[in-house]
Amino acid sequence: MIIRSWLFVPGDSERKLEKGRENVADALILDLEDSVSNDRQEIARTMVREYLQKHTDRSRQKLYVRCNPLDTDLALPDLAAIMPGRPDGICLPKVYSAKEVNTLCNYLSAFEAREGIEQGSTKILCVATETAASVLTFHTYLDGVSDRLVGMTWGAEDLAAALGASDNRGPDGDYDDVYKQVKGLCLAACRAIDVQPVGVLITNFRDDKALEEDCLRDRKAGFVGKIAIHPAQPPIINKAFTPSEEEIAHAKRVVAVFAENPGMGTVGLDGMMIDMPHLKQANTLLELADQIEAMEG
Ligand code: COA
Ligand code: MG
Repeated sequence: MIIRSWLFVPGDSERKLEKGRENVADALILDLEDSVSNDRQEIARTMVREYLQKHTDRSRQKLYVRCNPLDTDLALPDLAAIMPGRPDGICLPKVYSAKEVNTLCNYLSAFEAREGIEQGSTKILCVATETAASVLTFHTYLDGVSDRLVGMTWGAEDLAAALGASDNRGPDGDYDDVYKQVKGLCLAACRAIDVQPVGVLITNFRDDKALEEDCLRDRKAGFVGKIAIHPAQPPIINKAFTPSEEEIAHAKRVVAVFAENPGMGTVGLDGMMIDMPHLKQANTLLELADQIEAMEG
């Protein structure tokens, strides 16, 4: 299932948890990490477990939980506390390489056995670029990663802190080179292992226009969804990541023109040369549109 919008919800906020449920986000990420203060960790775990146990119908909206990083002593107690709630998946922050994803996979196997949950059913979304090492280890995902991994996103805020940067943007307001580089590497790694590439959040959550533009840029680049931090964002994200009527009509024409010209590798359409990559893009877009239509019923 394609997840277009992933809305982060602080795990210790009753009000935001309720707001999340009403939201059109395809998935919520109930957060136990950065948005929860240390003294509220235990409260957040209990609230997240109870929320998961209350909301068992996940057909419209998946419920993921972001646990603390595996190299802290908070991660295992997080998982122990929330696994009885049968989350659809875990969002794993601050990885160094695919190794942490595989370690989490083993932990989940044990918790699934304890809870009587089907093996392998708890999925993983990892935040792939929050440590300095992670910038250099994307290739490890190609060497064998758990098939619980369904998506990867990247991060520019924690990475800036990890790299000793005072800012992750240049004077023109655009991301600095290293952040653009990890965005591209994240996308390529996702496509190489066939998981969903998820675009980074934008922190200026009151700027709807900036969000829309960023979504469209991400989608053109190959991303299929985006992280949200505010309830106003998922409607914009869902729209931007759903192929429009015009795009669908154009893709159908591309498919049709090749069907009408069997044996031709390249043809003209509206005065433009189109060949096999265009056919592939058209088919990908139509598959995506079908998946979203099936999801929305
Ligand atoms: N999920 C669900 N509901 C949310 C929400 C979220 N992420 N962010 C805000 N809301 C709710 C607020 O509670 C408020 O509801 P209310 O009017 O019923 O009280 C409403 O949406 C409007 O919120 P608003 O006043 O515009 O924002 P804010 O100033 O209260 O909060 C943030 C701003 C950034 C603190 C908040 O959006 C937030 O907590 N985001 C998530 C942060 C996070 O999880 N970070 C970790 C991942 S990077
Ligand atoms: Mg963070």
